[in-house]
Amino acid sequence: MSKQILVTGGTGYIGSHTVVELQNSGFDVVIVDDLSNSQIEVLDNIEKITGIKPAFEKFDLSDSALTDNFFKQYSNIEAIIHFAAYKAVGESVQKPLEYYRNNLNSLMNLLAGMKKYGVAHMVFSSSCTVYGQPDKLPVTESTPRKEAESPYGNTKAIAEDILRDFARVNKDINSIALRYFNPVGAHESALIGELPVGVPNNLLPFITQTAAGLRDELSIFGDDYDTPDGTAIRDYINVVDLSKAHVVAINRMLQNKNKANYEYFNVGTGEGYSVMQLVKTFIEVTGVDVKYKIVGRREGDIEKIWADTSYGNKELGWKAEKTLEETLASAWKWEKNIRGIK
Ligand code: NAD
Ligand code: WQD
Repeated sequence: MSKQILVTGGTGYIGSHTVVELQNSGFDVVIVDDLSNSQIEVLDNIEKITGIKPAFEKFDLSDSALTDNFFKQYSNIEAIIHFAAYKAVGESVQKPLEYYRNNLNSLMNLLAGMKKYGVAHMVFSSSCTVYGQPDKLPVTESTPRKEAESPYGNTKAIAEDILRDFARVNKDINSIALRYFNPVGAHESALIGELPVGVPNNLLPFITQTAAGLRDELSIFGDDYDTPDGTAIRDYINVVDLSKAHVVAINRMLQNKNKANYEYFNVGTGEGYSVMQLVKTFIEVTGVDVKYKIVGRREGDIEKIWADTSYGNKELGWKAEKTLEETLASAWKWEKNIRGIK
């Protein structure tokens, strides 16, 4: 039986794209997902892209007995990419216990399994949300983390502390946390992409749903920020570029190139774009109008953030390649495909 990579949350947005890149790189993948925020049909769409349907187990990773059972059953796991988590910032404010339980128990169950069953490597989904509003931009990995704006963001900061403390006393187990900036876009096939449940919280799915006629108009949350056009700035990273960074991180550990048994890297483009720039570029690229209005700032939003990517570029030998225009076009192609728009 060949060695396998466990991808938790692998039918989700970023996980499914990473499974495609792993399979394209020759890895044998098994997905664990409880389908709390994704659909089983994603497996068929992954197969349509790569020709390989990944092995799949459906269970809740925050259940320690079920997770232990999985490791007993799948004894050839050589590395884990851990995407599985709840990620809705607003919901986390309303349901803090669910978020702490789900996101932290899942991680701790996996780490306990790695120790018990001898799995040596983990890549973890972290987030630039751990920086809060940085005092200095672009933000580097040495920028001190700030108080999280939400319980969700706090689960990422606490998870990083868990990985750091676990690594101190488990020198034979390696982990790499990737601090994602704002993942956007979809695979060029338009067979996988972001499928927000209900009203999208995030900007780009709201734009594409407005362009598709599902939403009347986009509300732009504030144009009184200290930015060139007054709207907030983010670093939008193409989801395929982001997925490739996970393959690079896994190989870094499998080839013993990591410099410590706990590392963390920014994963962004290094470019910041404002909300208004995204809207205008989307309209230019697609030729589709997007109605919008300026409203007040959204509670908890930061003003501006973009990554200093030099450390990851150098150490990982990885760099984002897709342009903003290609990325926005891929998001629109995905939206049209799922809505049956020609
Ligand atoms: P997603 O919701 O599409 O994928 C997460 C997957 O995990 C879903 O398929 C869900 O069903 C599954 N899941 C959740 N809890 C589980 C559990 N207890 N057991 C088994 N499966 C479980 O989210 P995504 O956008 O693909 O994000 C993936 C990871 O990246 C998450 O950890 C998220 O916090 C992190 N992240 C996302 C963003 C973003 O903007 N999308 C930014 C930074 C970090
Ligand atoms: C981007 C910009 C909004 C929607 C969030 C989480 C973060 C991570 C990524 C999980 C902001 C503006 C948005 C809309 C708008 N998720 N906006 N109208 O807030 O940077 O990050 O998603 O890890 O943890 O905090 O992303 O896409 O929600 O917003 O004007 O309808 O677009 O104010 O400036 P954000 P976003």
